[in-house]
Amino acid sequence: MGGRESAEPGVIGADVGRIDGRLKVTGEARYGSDVEVDNVAYACLHTSAIARGRIVSIDEAEARSVEGLLDILTYKSVGDRVAPGEFFATGGYFGSTMRPLSSPDVRYAGQIVAVVLAETFEAAREAALRLKVDYEENTPSAGFDAPGAEMQPAAEVGHEDPVCGDAAAAYATAPVKVEATYETPTQHHNPIELFTTTCAWDGDHLTIWEPSQNVYGVKHGIAQQLQMDPADIRVVSRYVGGAFGSRGSLTQRTALVALAAKRLGRPVKLVATRAQGFTIATYRAETRHHIRLGADRQGRLLSLSHEGWEFTSRPDPYKVAGTDASTRLYACPNIWSRVSMVHGDRNTPGFMRSPPEVPYLFALESAMDELAVELGMDPIELRRRNDTEREPIKGLPYTSRALMPCFDAAAAGFGWNRRDPRPGSMQDGDWDIGWGCAATAYPTHVAPAAVRLTLSRDGRARVQTAAHDIGTGAYTAAALTAADFLGLPLEDVTVELGDTSLPPGPIAGGSNSTASVCTAVAKACGELRERLAAAAVAAGDGFAGLDTGAFTLADRHLCGPNGRREPLETAVARLGQDDVAVESENLPEGVPPSGLDKLHRGLAAFTGGTGRDDRVQFAFGAIFVEARVHRRTRQIRVPRAVGAFAAGRIVSQRTAESQLMGGMIWGISAALHEATEIDREAARYTNTDLAEYLVPVNADIGEIRVLTLSEQDEAVNPLGIKGIGELGNVGTNAAVANAVHHATGVRIRRLPIRLENLL
Ligand code: MOS
Repeated sequence: MGGRESAEPGVIGADVGRIDGRLKVTGEARYGSDVEVDNVAYACLHTSAIARGRIVSIDEAEARSVEGLLDILTYKSVGDRVAPGEFFATGGYFGSTMRPLSSPDVRYAGQIVAVVLAETFEAAREAALRLKVDYEENTPSAGFDAPGAEMQPAAEVGHEDPVCGDAAAAYATAPVKVEATYETPTQHHNPIELFTTTCAWDGDHLTIWEPSQNVYGVKHGIAQQLQMDPADIRVVSRYVGGAFGSRGSLTQRTALVALAAKRLGRPVKLVATRAQGFTIATYRAETRHHIRLGADRQGRLLSLSHEGWEFTSRPDPYKVAGTDASTRLYACPNIWSRVSMVHGDRNTPGFMRSPPEVPYLFALESAMDELAVELGMDPIELRRRNDTEREPIKGLPYTSRALMPCFDAAAAGFGWNRRDPRPGSMQDGDWDIGWGCAATAYPTHVAPAAVRLTLSRDGRARVQTAAHDIGTGAYTAAALTAADFLGLPLEDVTVELGDTSLPPGPIAGGSNSTASVCTAVAKACGELRERLAAAAVAAGDGFAGLDTGAFTLADRHLCGPNGRREPLETAVARLGQDDVAVESENLPEGVPPSGLDKLHRGLAAFTGGTGRDDRVQFAFGAIFVEARVHRRTRQIRVPRAVGAFAAGRIVSQRTAESQLMGGMIWGISAALHEATEIDREAARYTNTDLAEYLVPVNADIGEIRVLTLSEQDEAVNPLGIKGIGELGNVGTNAAVANAVHHATGVRIRRLPIRLENLL
């Protein structure tokens, strides 16, 4: 890292280390289950051994004989004590509508069937293992093509399939064609921090410590499930050890732990196992895509069809519908798309980093590479010929679109001009070398946010909002924004996040946090400055008659438009207090006023992306990858990758680069390593640990270069911020597959690409 500290760390765009970095590396940062609670009891889960059927009997005798056992919750003791909650996609808080412990029914493998409570973690685990559950078993449908799996068009649950022109007719007569099927596997987030919940009651008041991307959502969702007044619930999640979407919706464990604590009359802590994390939380569902591209001989697209299928659980219509992005990336007069869900007997999938774009752009960007090969055209040139200032479905303008500048910058950084386009033509010793590229795009979202900002007489500022730092650098981005607008050095700004005792911040999803929170912080700084200015003008003191809106804060001074400056201490003291505080809410342009109510209730109220009538908003990028395939063993390595990204104004340069780099690393991992294996008979995941579920280690990842292009786009929000948390993850998988094709001449259309695919 180091060595690039900018001269002025207190400004937006500075290249500084994260302000919470020291706390994290020294262990001072307290994650959910680190909290020490007096008299705590420990919970362990017992999960179902079958995927579909019902519990016939539960023999608790052996479990109850374990010393220190306190209680065992099953469907007999819980039943309707946990009320149903609405699915997030239809306006609720929950990642699944299935209610374990509400009945003896088993809907998927690894469903919670008992919560075992004991004096120690060891006793709870021992008892959970000794619980004997007998089932009556029915044959489950494990995935696509399984007997009993049911297909449902996404249009039935309110999705609008993007379509324009007549894609079938244009395809029939197109001189150059590509038609192929692509597949992506089930993947699990595997954040390093496990899925944990700690609950403590104080009378009717409940405190929940849990890693979360949406603390206000947990608060209101639990209030719904336990029929409580939300004012009696506090949710704390100050630090999160990885989320990636897995902590965006409320899962089933939280209410059960709260209920257990109530019954025992003492706090309860649950730390689920790594394996249980595969079934008590969500995952990226497997997808299948059928793509048809038709082009003229100059490479201009005449027809694009993208049909997608996504797996989901039996009751919940979870879908990502990435055709919203894949049909808007290139100019094309005739486009057809359709998305369907396939329901079966598994837990409900959920958000995973760039949920729609990662699978859908894998398909599209692989197909574009196939078209370039078919045309004998450079793949960058193919993108250039189909570049557009307006998305093709409704003809709406992009607020800004720097796709080709990103391709050009990444190509230059990579050395693309030295590429021999013939597959299998580049070697280094026993290694076949392939160079591939792909586009990335991610919708730019912004949401309402509330901020409390306090400035003390000694020139220290405190920013408080219940937004979330899921490892992304949110603390640092908020601090840089406040330092910049208040004219303070970075070290004099503190930031508090992740606690429902603070004003509400947005859900950390859809890469909206930096735009939403920093806009609100800037607005609060402006309101605070106005208050200081108004008092200064009213008092005279050399400021009489000046326009309060024209004051600025700089170098710990209040500065009037007449050039007169006074120390902050004087300005704050004039208000007769030791500090001055403002509570500010930001409602972004494009979000209806009901968005503020949603903010306070923990519901997403995004604008942007493809959700507006007047324009579309995306960040863009291009990713270039070198793959090496060993001629004899077919081992695949990726020694280097270069990504160039244009994502509006970068607030925190180093954490932004780290997000983009992390996204690219995950993209390489998704292309070559990761897949959750599924027993097709039992509908069970079989590689539920970090030994068998492959994630890359340092030795798997070579050089990753991240280039950020400067881009001004004040249409997206006043500060011109586009999200970057998910952008680097999109397209990298296709770039790897395209590089493997260039190295070997073998086109792999199903991820992950393993050496056995290249034998
Ligand atoms: Mo993120 S997958 O949008 O929580």
